[in-house]
Amino acid sequence: MAAPGFHDPRFERIFPPNASVRTDGVLEIGGCALPELAAEYGTPLYVIDELGLRERMRAYRDGLAARRPNSQVAFASKSFPVLAAYAIAAAEGLAIDVAGAGELLLALESGAPPELIHLHGNAKSEEELALAVDAGIGTIVLDGEADVERLDALLTRPQDVLIRIIPGVDPRVPRAISTGGERSKFGLPIPQAKALIERLEGHPFITVVGLHLHIGSQVLEVEPFERAVEAVRELGEFPVYNIGGGLGVDYHVRHAAPTLDAYLDAITAAATCVLPAHSRLIIEPGRSLVARSGVTAYRVNNVKRTGATFVAVDGGLADQLNVALMDMEFTPLVADRASTRPDTVAQLVGRQCESGDLLVDRAELAAPATGDTIVLAATGAYGYTLSNNYNGALKPAVVFCREGESRLAVRRQTYAEFLGHHVGPSQQSWAS
Ligand code: LLP
Repeated sequence: MAAPGFHDPRFERIFPPNASVRTDGVLEIGGCALPELAAEYGTPLYVIDELGLRERMRAYRDGLAARRPNSQVAFASKSFPVLAAYAIAAAEGLAIDVAGAGELLLALESGAPPELIHLHGNAKSEEELALAVDAGIGTIVLDGEADVERLDALLTRPQDVLIRIIPGVDPRVPRAISTGGERSKFGLPIPQAKALIERLEGHPFITVVGLHLHIGSQVLEVEPFERAVEAVRELGEFPVYNIGGGLGVDYHVRHAAPTLDAYLDAITAAATCVLPAHSRLIIEPGRSLVARSGVTAYRVNNVKRTGATFVAVDGGLADQLNVALMDMEFTPLVADRASTRPDTVAQLVGRQCESGDLLVDRAELAAPATGDTIVLAATGAYGYTLSNNYNGALKPAVVFCREGESRLAVRRQTYAEFLGHHVGPSQQSWAS
């Protein structure tokens, strides 16, 4: 019997490339059945199509290299700060972008070459910069004078830096994820960047090799990226330009983000027009590199018909904070009946005590019942990143699936670890 496929064939471009539906209608990712993964590893669970992720990294790497020989793709690791993902990115020849000491430690631990690590941040601590300098990372992105002062105290050998600029390009994305506009907290306006660059000329250790910018995330048109490249023109010529990440992705069959080819065509064409011919072009995608490779699996704990039909699962905004932060419109699927046409319109809700804990408004589900496994597609980016302990939720596990085998990449947090952060009555009396 031929495999039945999704109940909606358009799901094929929303779900991971190596998602399939078994003859009995069960969803598989990388050849692993979702209900079985849920039973083995517990839920909520982030499930990654490992080969899909690697394929996407290669498509980015080769696509950019084919259009601009002197270029580099860096994995914006904040989108999925999992040790295995750093190791895979490094193995696939990507550089790594980190935005803090924790991410830097993960990158170093993964075995990524330090010279391919970029450190960002608008409020870097002395400790972070010391760690970066000690590790000999390739590039530090300066956000202003404070970084220079700290580096002055730390450096005893040359360090390449980029200056983060505000390009004054505000893409049409939610305010929370727009970072390129005039009022951004990241980077320096162009005149201030110019002054800093002049001041650093002849500095004994700090070498300004170029500029960095990032306009925002989930950007759904290519034109703002072109304008951002054009904005750097007035600062003079440099060997390196890092133009950030931000390409949007499709979370729903109705969405139509630009394709990778359209994006790469646009930025490399703009770079050819504006940037010096032999300069190096760096991009640092996160979401568009990892989102589609991941789904999040939940167990249905409650189905009830009151004012509406509520299907309540064992996760929520503790593991998918974006539903509240960005009004994300995710695509749900009952993994036990992936080829069955939905017969129920429900509020797919989480278990956290917030009415914003609505995973999917008017979710179309096939005969949802307690004990089912429900997945949300395209949740590989920023879900794990933003996971938290709201209502005592434990941070979920992450599992990588490939050709029928699953490998644990992050263990689920335990209650002992959760309790262990607190200073309790056995160490300290709080009675009075
Ligand atoms: N580079 C820099 C300097 C960034 O700030 C970011 C994302 C990226 C690269 C990667 O952008 P991407 O390609 O992933 O769009 N909390 C939001 C996402 C915030 C993104 C922050 N910066 C969310 O959960 O969707």
